[in-house]
Amino acid sequence: MFDVKKVRKDFPMFKNNPLMQGHNMVYFDNANTTFKPDCVIEKEMEYYSNYCCNSHRGDYDLAEKADESYEGARKSVASFINAKPNEVVFVSGTSLALNMIAQGLKNRLSKNDEIVISEAEHASNILPWFRLQEEIGCKIVYVPLNNEGRVTEEGLKSVLSNKTKIVSLAYVTNVLGYVLDVKSLTKITHEAGAIFVCDGAQAVPHMKIDVKDLDVDFLVFSGHKCVGPTGTGVMYGKIHLLDTMPSLILGGGMNTTFNTCGNYGYLASPNKFEAGTQNIAGAIGLARALQYLDELGMDNIQHYEQELKKYAISKLKTIPEIIIYNKDAEAGIITFNYQGVHAQDMATLLGSLGICVRSGEHCAKLLPNFLGELATVRASFYFYNTFEEIDQFVEACKKGCDFLDVFFD
Ligand code: ALA
Repeated sequence: MFDVKKVRKDFPMFKNNPLMQGHNMVYFDNANTTFKPDCVIEKEMEYYSNYCCNSHRGDYDLAEKADESYEGARKSVASFINAKPNEVVFVSGTSLALNMIAQGLKNRLSKNDEIVISEAEHASNILPWFRLQEEIGCKIVYVPLNNEGRVTEEGLKSVLSNKTKIVSLAYVTNVLGYVLDVKSLTKITHEAGAIFVCDGAQAVPHMKIDVKDLDVDFLVFSGHKCVGPTGTGVMYGKIHLLDTMPSLILGGGMNTTFNTCGNYGYLASPNKFEAGTQNIAGAIGLARALQYLDELGMDNIQHYEQELKKYAISKLKTIPEIIIYNKDAEAGIITFNYQGVHAQDMATLLGSLGICVRSGEHCAKLLPNFLGELATVRASFYFYNTFEEIDQFVEACKKGCDFLDVFFD
């Protein structure tokens, strides 16, 4: 197990930062984005300071160094999820990846086909499929959530049919934090003859992922939730799918040739999906971030976050006004409300006490159908959080009633 006190020293946000220190700030908004360690920041700076050239476009030594580092980053990211380098496409984040997949699979779909998602998905795993529904007339079908709000094997089986062409689900849901049994769900999906798309945005930062073992057809995630740079992410796809998928973005660096008759050809994956100058520094930083997580140990990270979560739940349960919506969720996410206080007001109150959490619908605007609540407060932990911070958070939560006092006295 890693030493949290030592780990925190790797993050400039915890060191000599007047915003953090002055307010004794607790950052529990890690499902939103994460802090970055020095090694990631330095790696990006190294590119900008020492070999700032475009990739795949220069014949001089400096450009070669940029190429080597960019492709080296791809190899390293591929190895982190047990993929092959040509199955790893660098993207700006999960949202772009899901749009690329939806548009890339469009030519496989027709009017009578169905795409299965759930009401617990993030907007990025709903709206790209809505667009296909608009464009093709295919139908979106929702896996029924069980009484806790989970996607189960039974739920998925109940909606699969020979019309199902794609199943797209979050490995870990971003509001309720349930970890899906993706391996089983993928198997069931394949038995129905459909493709399984896995939104790994809330999973890859927190647990060991092996795409070969899971057998998912696509896995997408964002770098910024994995202590990596913002504007980075990955679209993993099985090579036979990537090879037959058109690219959403066309331009330089992805074509073999084009002529005045309007004919053009694609390079092989991954280049065919990477038109234009890429976020080279970002990709190199992302690889460093994943290496950093690997050094800490993904199993250690997952275990530690679960301990934080258990501790927080046991403490929050002692506050009668706190309603927790996902006390048994496996991920380090707690979604709650303070009875009688609007979620945004609660988050503002917590913010004034130095606790950073997110409130609202958390981009999952169908989930209120299930929760029966429009807005909730979400506290999300990462490996650099501490038990002392949870104590501070729980003490702050107890003051939820102070908010009522301020307004109703
Ligand atoms: N997807 C991010 C979240 O859940 C932004 O907060």
